[in-house]
Amino acid sequence: MSIDISRFRQEPAKVRLSAAAFDELLGITNIIASSHQGSRFDTAPAHLNPLHAPHLNAEFNNIRSMVDHGSHVLILEGLKVDNLASFKWLVWTFGSLLGVPMVQNHLDHKVIEVYDRGGKSIEEGARYHQTRQGAYVHNDGVSDPLPIDYLILACGQKALLGGESILIDASAVYAELMAFPEILEELKCDFFFENRGMAEEEKLFKAPILSFSDEGVPLIRYFRVYIESAHLKAGVPLTVEQNKALDFLDAVLDQSSVQQRVLLESGQLLISADNKFLHTRTHFIDRHLPCAQVNDAERLKDLNRYMLRMWLRKP
Ligand SMILES: [Fe+2]
Repeated sequence: MSIDISRFRQEPAKVRLSAAAFDELLGITNIIASSHQGSRFDTAPAHLNPLHAPHLNAEFNNIRSMVDHGSHVLILEGLKVDNLASFKWLVWTFGSLLGVPMVQNHLDHKVIEVYDRGGKSIEEGARYHQTRQGAYVHNDGVSDPLPIDYLILACGQKALLGGESILIDASAVYAELMAFPEILEELKCDFFFENRGMAEEEKLFKAPILSFSDEGVPLIRYFRVYIESAHLKAGVPLTVEQNKALDFLDAVLDQSSVQQRVLLESGQLLISADNKFLHTRTHFIDRHLPCAQVNDAERLKDLNRYMLRMWLRKP
């Protein structure tokens, strides 16, 4: 069987909420923001009453359907606001209406700020979102046995230079690897994974890198550095066959035939089906020196490269 993988190289579809749906989203955002007291912004999820927000409800259903059953990824445009506080509220409201936000770290945060803190590297134990490193293709749902249904990456500001997103459909990878059945078999076996950054207590678990949905769609779980680290911690070194399978997988992930590239602009949200879709970014250079914390009063246009990330489960 041969699969035409050229279809996987098409640019992700760009979608814009209608003016009516965007107004409904802003209305819900204002309610959430004005009733907020004290705690972090990502604690109380927004709720959508289809009778009160019919346009938004219909357009959310369309977005879910495109990501679930279509291209597995899309870019939503036009979520433009002036300052960081407004951006956080808008993204939180949007995300918590699209799906159920998942906890992403040991502090119970459901929205993660992605920007360079100027600290440790990934190899030194930092999580990816705290660095400006590129190069490792992965999906985000590797730190928890349960997958992520929707990954949202919302761009507040792009870098001065670089920071392109590289997007790879797991189906394209599978199609390329069909020429190497023994590699596919190895990837379908269990590997060790770790819960890096998710809890104070370190936990390892086993899962395959490649599996399939009930409909036969290839599902992926891959972040090589985390897998190598988990195998070290488990005291179970990767076998020669496992390393070979990872090398084959990495070689395919490096091929332009499977990659789509996109440079997210301020106000654009990337939404992907995380367990069907890999991503990475290219190395980037910022305008200003890195800092450990960004003030909510900052205007988006004054920031270094800045993204908000959410992990969602289906409602
Ligand atoms: Fe990621």
